[in-house]
Amino acid sequence: MNEKVAAVLAKKGRTPVAELTAYDYPTARLLDEAGIDMILVGDSLGMVVMGYPDTTHVTMEHMLHHCAMVARGVKRALVIADMPIHSFDTPEQALANARRLMDTGVDAVKLEGGADKEEVIRAITSAGIPVQGHIGLLPQKVLEEGGYHMKGKTDAEAAAIMRDMEAVVRAGAFSLVMECTKSAVAAAVTRACPVVTIGIGAGHGTCDGEVLVLHDAMGAFPWFMPKFATQFAQVGAAITQGVRDYIASLRLPE
Ligand code: KIV
Repeated sequence: MNEKVAAVLAKKGRTPVAELTAYDYPTARLLDEAGIDMILVGDSLGMVVMGYPDTTHVTMEHMLHHCAMVARGVKRALVIADMPIHSFDTPEQALANARRLMDTGVDAVKLEGGADKEEVIRAITSAGIPVQGHIGLLPQKVLEEGGYHMKGKTDAEAAAIMRDMEAVVRAGAFSLVMECTKSAVAAAVTRACPVVTIGIGAGHGTCDGEVLVLHDAMGAFPWFMPKFATQFAQVGAAITQGVRDYIASLRLPE
């Protein structure tokens, strides 16, 4: 097994696994040097870096460009490339695109979907590429579902999330993200799950670890902040102040 994947799996049940997104070299290098376990080159790139309203505008070309930047900045952490919408519609297409992403220097790929993506995930893991699954709320379905809605509110939804976890695990994923599921569901899935669960908007202390979009966690996208996200720094405010100080420092020649 890949050493970085083994190191993450060894943390299950012992110490929380920390994952954050990054999209460029300096940020990835800062995260790596600060001790993060996993860095996700998320397709949230489309929203917090490229200014699109959702992640459905992100293409393989965008991801390849940013994955290469992140991979160059990281020595220690496990780097995961998000597979953009329609890059994994069939097992063959998914494997070909996973290989292109791995060629940028990342260590693993992530894709959205549960039982419906079991064959797709198996095609990638069978080729020796580590996969992180993503179940619960799937942001790539925002247009189909008409918004972002919490999952696991009914017994039927909770059972479907459990079945999704089982399918993703059967297909060979080493980890899975659980997004915006009721916290009791996230905790039950984590108890039943042999691989590393990573929560986002699924309650604190319910999963083996957590992931946040870096811009949400660091206050670098002050125009929108998901309700569940905690801000650990105010980068946007620091830049605004720095720019004002710079403008005020300028002088004309005497
Ligand atoms: O694209 C992304 O950043 C993600 C995380 C929110 C899990 O998928």
